[in-house]
Amino acid sequence: MTEQVSFHDHKPTALSLYDAVVSGLSQADKSIPPKFFYDKRGSELFERICEQPEYYLPGVERRMLARLAEEIATLTGRGRILIEPGAGSAGKVRLLLDALRPAAFVPMDISFDYLKSSAMDLARDYPWLEIHVACVDFTHSLPVPEEIPEGPRLLFFPGSSLGNFDREEAGDFLRMVHDTLGDEGMLLIGVDTKKSESLLNAAYNDAAGLTAEFNLNLLHRLRQELNAELDTDIFEHRAFYNVEAGRIEMHLVSRYRQTLCLNGRSFEFKAGERLHTENSYKYAPREFIDLASGSGFNEVRHWVDDEGLFAIYLLTTGELS
Ligand code: AVI
Repeated sequence: MTEQVSFHDHKPTALSLYDAVVSGLSQADKSIPPKFFYDKRGSELFERICEQPEYYLPGVERRMLARLAEEIATLTGRGRILIEPGAGSAGKVRLLLDALRPAAFVPMDISFDYLKSSAMDLARDYPWLEIHVACVDFTHSLPVPEEIPEGPRLLFFPGSSLGNFDREEAGDFLRMVHDTLGDEGMLLIGVDTKKSESLLNAAYNDAAGLTAEFNLNLLHRLRQELNAELDTDIFEHRAFYNVEAGRIEMHLVSRYRQTLCLNGRSFEFKAGERLHTENSYKYAPREFIDLASGSGFNEVRHWVDDEGLFAIYLLTTGELS
């Protein structure tokens, strides 16, 4: 099995939590980037959010992928180099592997240990699959290991993770993907659609309170990892759909006036002041296709589920035949 899997540590130099917090809290509109949600507890909470009935995204996407796998393989052809940034537990790709029969699979993520163990599980279940595990911060670069075989590439980016970039960043990310794919490359991407406000608001305010816990976990990280002094109980989770901006916004709201102390610096929160923790953009199919074509892609096909909840797009860097 060891020959089947190889490891490539690109040593991502991510902005530290401390630097991000100091810079984010020094702004007039306080914010912390959403990538800091995902420590061990945050990742576990996210897995549980994905099982909540209100958070429809993963369930709908999985059912679509299972149903579409053969059709997708007919359009992409078999034997491509399959790349998945942010692969994590590499769960969704399993729905495609038998149909796509890739020449190699390159899962990428920032958490090397987690990725290593999911790659070993994958190697056990798919003994024919060549796997090159790459430790990278995919929000900055997509370095593909030199050892991977030659051949056309297919990048898989499920889960509507693109929605956590603002629009300009999303365009930049797609351009970076385009460069990584090269000629005749393809992108298979899952993106959440615009829909009724009530469904969207419920998805980010689940009844079990897991999204609230996930959001508040960021403050526990500040206390535990940075020794920040703050009263986490004073903050509450708020998530709502901003129709004009076409995005869910998540905030932590300080109910009272308080001072957060961090390494000799203090940051004042007024009563009702918000700390912005995440945006999750939603795209109508036309909007997304325009965004992708601005980054050099051509649409091969897209699919929307029967209820219009979620969309999957297959795009190419090549010309359409
Ligand atoms: C990872 N990402 C696509 C999720 C989303 O829907 O934006 C993160 C999330 N935040 C709250 N719930 C889920």
